[in-house]
Amino acid sequence: MKKLMITAVSLGLAAAGTALAQAPSRTVWDGVFTADQAAQGKVLFNNKCAICHGAEMNGAEMAPPLAGGAFLANWSNVPVSEFFTRIHSTMPANDPGSMSGQEVSLVIAYILSFNQYPAGTATLPSDEAALAQINILAEKPAAK
Ligand code: HEC
Repeated sequence: MKKLMITAVSLGLAAAGTALAQAPSRTVWDGVFTADQAAQGKVLFNNKCAICHGAEMNGAEMAPPLAGGAFLANWSNVPVSEFFTRIHSTMPANDPGSMSGQEVSLVIAYILSFNQYPAGTATLPSDEAALAQINILAEKPAAK
């Protein structure tokens, strides 16, 4: 009986530990990219993405919008790592996989900036483990 209880307690702790490890510690409201990254990303976006998604990111034909409500309906509450992987492996649709991880991060910085998220002093990383710690969130969380 005692052994059973200990097992139950340690399972409970393990579950709590997993939840903690998985909850991204930051959101796109926290200044997770620099203004310089966004500026570089803009050049890349206009060269490689705008032809299909539009310079205003409002989408066209088959290409979905990358700004506004339609974009956030798909991506709010999703870690940036998933957005990164989606772009890195499937975009640009006419040449998938052609961009380096660093270029993808720059483009993401511009997309976030275009969606009115604030630039900050932190550089948006391009490794997935670090990006998994940042959530895309439509609504600004209440101040802690
Ligand atoms: C040749 C046209 C084309 C180009 C260029 C292109 N895309 Fe796309 N993109 C699409 C199409 C079509 C879809 C939807 C179908 C699919 O996923 O392939 C899409 C889907 C996406 C999605 C998923 C959106 C969602 O909410 O589901 C993202 C993110 C994205 N593109 C980002 C980019 C970025 C960033 C670039 C530039 C690096 C880019 N795309 C360049 C055509 C394009």
